Amino acid sequence: MNRSKISIIGGGFVGSTCAQGLLNRDLGDIVLLDIEESMVQGRSLDLLQSSALMTPRIQINGTADYKNIQDSDIVVITAGQARKPGMSRDELQNINAKIVIQVCEQIKKQAPQSCVIVVTNPLDVMTYVAWKTLGFPSDRVIGMAGVLDSARFKTFVAQELNVSVRDVQAFVLGGHGDTMVLLPRLCHVGGIPLSELLSKERIDSLVERAKKGGAEIVSLLKTSSAYYAPALSVVEMVESILKDQKRILPCSTLLKGEYGVTDLFMGVLCLLGTKGVEKIMEFSMSVEEKAQFQNSVLAVKKQVQQLRGLV
Ligand code: LAC
Repeated sequence: MNRSKISIIGGGFVGSTCAQGLLNRDLGDIVLLDIEESMVQGRSLDLLQSSALMTPRIQINGTADYKNIQDSDIVVITAGQARKPGMSRDELQNINAKIVIQVCEQIKKQAPQSCVIVVTNPLDVMTYVAWKTLGFPSDRVIGMAGVLDSARFKTFVAQELNVSVRDVQAFVLGGHGDTMVLLPRLCHVGGIPLSELLSKERIDSLVERAKKGGAEIVSLLKTSSAYYAPALSVVEMVESILKDQKRILPCSTLLKGEYGVTDLFMGVLCLLGTKGVEKIMEFSMSVEEKAQFQNSVLAVKKQVQQLRGLV
């Protein structure tokens, strides 16, 4: 059986931790690409040696040459600047848009059949930029954010109730930013609605903490943003695609009329299989949830408009 090939563009904390997660689950051979060739070769060699202690026969290639990503099944884009303390995801927009455009021009040449997962912030806008530059069908250009934001909310709920996080079900929709939409109404713990286990005040405070989950980590780390949970969120998506698991995960995808929105990448529930986003799982939102989602749509739309002729 042919092994899958997964390329990661950007060998920083998110990219290399993602490589480690893919390697741990033995999802395929990996290319870790970065403009800092020596750094990425060192990290790849270290990862390769770590695989001697677990999975045999993995290949990982650290490189600065895009030819090496040729015919990848999946390309993950983590390249870009990370947030510094006090910086919003939006401020990164113009710097990172240029990087994403350059990267996507190469992916288009070397891996035209790949499924591309974008991690670079501001997430929904960068996924839009990637889609425009790549010219791929939108089911093969996906933004990672909802899996991460949901993992954060689930963690806080599990901590609060002192239960296993595996028994907490929750998801986050909308843009990956201050307007993200948490849906406590649809959060269940062991099948029990969260509202039966916690007061509204406690739920509201967990929702607020999850919304600011990224910033909380930036302010603690000071020199980088989060990477362990973001990287494993990517791995979850890659696994569902490569193994055709058809998991339902919140991802940023191009909306074509769903929830009344068109021509915008937004976080919604997606079914991920071999073809990428195989289906958008739409459901009825309450009036309040709809208003929150709409607010998030407007925020992402505004950011897209600020791209001013870049794509
Ligand atoms: C975060 C970054 C990855 O939310 O956006 O931590």
